[in-house]
Amino acid sequence: MSAHLSLIARVKRSGKYFLHPTSAWIASLLCIVLVSISEPMIPALLQPLLDQGFQQNSFPIWMVPLSLVGLFAVRGISLFIGQVAVAKATNLGMLKLRLAMFARLQDADLTLYKEQNASSLGNTLVYEVNNGSQLLVNSCMSLLRDSLTLVALVGYLLYLNWQLSLILAILLPSVALLMKVMSKRLYGLTRNNQSATDALAYVVEESAMAYREIRLHSAQSMQQNRFAQLGHMLSRINMKMTVAGAGITPLTQLFSAIALSAVISVALIQSQESGMTVGSFASFVTAMLMLVAPIKHLSEVAGPMTRGLAALERGLELIEKTPIEQGGTFRAKHAKGLIEIRQVAVRYQDDLPWALNEVDLTIQPGETVALVGSSGSGKSTLANLLPRFVEWSRGEVLLDGVSIRDWHLDDLRQQFAIVSQNVVVLNESLAVNVALGQAPDEEKVLKCLMAANLGDYLKTLPDQIHAMVGHNASSMSGGQRQRLAIARALYKDAPILILDEATSALDNESERMVQDALRQLQRGKTTLVIAHRLSTIEAADRIVVMEKGRIVEMGTHASLLVADGAYAALFKIKQSGLAES
Ligand SMILES: Nc1ncnc2c1ncn2[C@@H]1O[C@H](COP(=O)(O)OP(=O)(O)O)[C@@H](O)[C@H]1O
Ligand SMILES: [Mg+2]
Repeated sequence: MSAHLSLIARVKRSGKYFLHPTSAWIASLLCIVLVSISEPMIPALLQPLLDQGFQQNSFPIWMVPLSLVGLFAVRGISLFIGQVAVAKATNLGMLKLRLAMFARLQDADLTLYKEQNASSLGNTLVYEVNNGSQLLVNSCMSLLRDSLTLVALVGYLLYLNWQLSLILAILLPSVALLMKVMSKRLYGLTRNNQSATDALAYVVEESAMAYREIRLHSAQSMQQNRFAQLGHMLSRINMKMTVAGAGITPLTQLFSAIALSAVISVALIQSQESGMTVGSFASFVTAMLMLVAPIKHLSEVAGPMTRGLAALERGLELIEKTPIEQGGTFRAKHAKGLIEIRQVAVRYQDDLPWALNEVDLTIQPGETVALVGSSGSGKSTLANLLPRFVEWSRGEVLLDGVSIRDWHLDDLRQQFAIVSQNVVVLNESLAVNVALGQAPDEEKVLKCLMAANLGDYLKTLPDQIHAMVGHNASSMSGGQRQRLAIARALYKDAPILILDEATSALDNESERMVQDALRQLQRGKTTLVIAHRLSTIEAADRIVVMEKGRIVEMGTHASLLVADGAYAALFKIKQSGLAES
């Protein structure tokens, strides 16, 4: 784990995203150097002022405002430019990191979406990256600025009186040690804090997703309790983090106070003996006192740096540790549509029963095969196997004689159009949703929408095909959404069609109309249809009956009725259901 890496290695790992533009870094480094070396100029100006300023005619008075204002003008301009330049590099780095993370979400192995929910991914990409970048860059800059200031001031002190400054040599290593110990504890706590934040965000996501169910079942207080529990946990972790972080500052300051008092006492004794001037004593003590600020800042840098690193590392782990979806190299534009499933077994988890077991099925190009069976028998799993949404552990699946694991993923998925029970709509216009992934051709979009029987719906939209269908198409009915999916399939015009209960959300009337569209869609295509309506099943070239992950019967409608097995039994139930309604 990254906790074992040295701090420098970790900063390097996260920092590589923030190195550009180089000009911004050069500018800010120059500014930091200017600000740091100007720091001892303040006590240095004090010495001549005190030693000579009170004697007459030693130097012109106008030099005092000139040098002071000049000094602060240089510092002010440098601070300003430095800050802007650093912000530029931070924002660019953050953008780069975000783009890399989002790109990984697009090509990640599908297991990622089982392991992480939407809110935790959202947290990583939106919140943690932002937080982490700011914290890391700011704390690195502070580390640099304050160490340089410290070096400049200590250099000046050594120049004034090198013996005294040796006391500081004891102070610095003890501060460093303290920071190391404390930041280790803080890192662990920060990790806990992240997962607790994810869990909290997830409860919110859930409440937004399932608001109807929660109200209907009066589950508000249950949700409230879950949220409260997680909230309490988060607040306990935050308190621990504060305690761990807050301890560092007073401890270092205590060390500094001890060192300072020792130096001042020794300096006073020395000055009495050696006749040090008031000016040099005052400037020595001023420089000493000015040391307190950078020491204080340095003592505070461990907390934000640790938190920033932990936040960025979460994103880096997403980029570096998430496996990439592995496709093959076989490329083909249009498949003929020959599907061979050989002795395939699928299991979603090691401790679950087989969702598919020794399934053997060959579908000829242009053939329409209907899958029937009770719910949970593995029909959807079989359909999801083909575009590799589900992986098999035994057997082989071939398309046009090539294992689908050898197919290039883009080309493989280009061969399928899928209409299923749950239709997901992007928060985009109707046209973009129909042409999904391609630049919409308006005429074609309109034609597909009409064929999918969405003409009436289209009339209700003032913006027509450019209407925004909104956040998961909550403004559309289930049937309208399903017809949108059919329009999408028509637009894609892929050689293989998978219909997984594609008309389940439609009423009889609209189903009859959509059936025409579906029949057109099916023409000349290899089709796998999972249907609950007898008419669709009867029209298929072949019917495959599934039970508990196995194929138990296969044949035409007529031959299966003659065989009087599982299909005949299902058929009788369906028919009596139809007769009743
Ligand atoms: N994502 C999943 N994780 C775990 N088990 C699953 C998952 N999807 C389906 N299953 C299980 O696999 C079996 C077959 O499911 P499925 O193929 O959806 O059946 P059908 O479509 O015939 O109703 C069921 O027992 C179901 O609980
Ligand atoms: Mg299903």
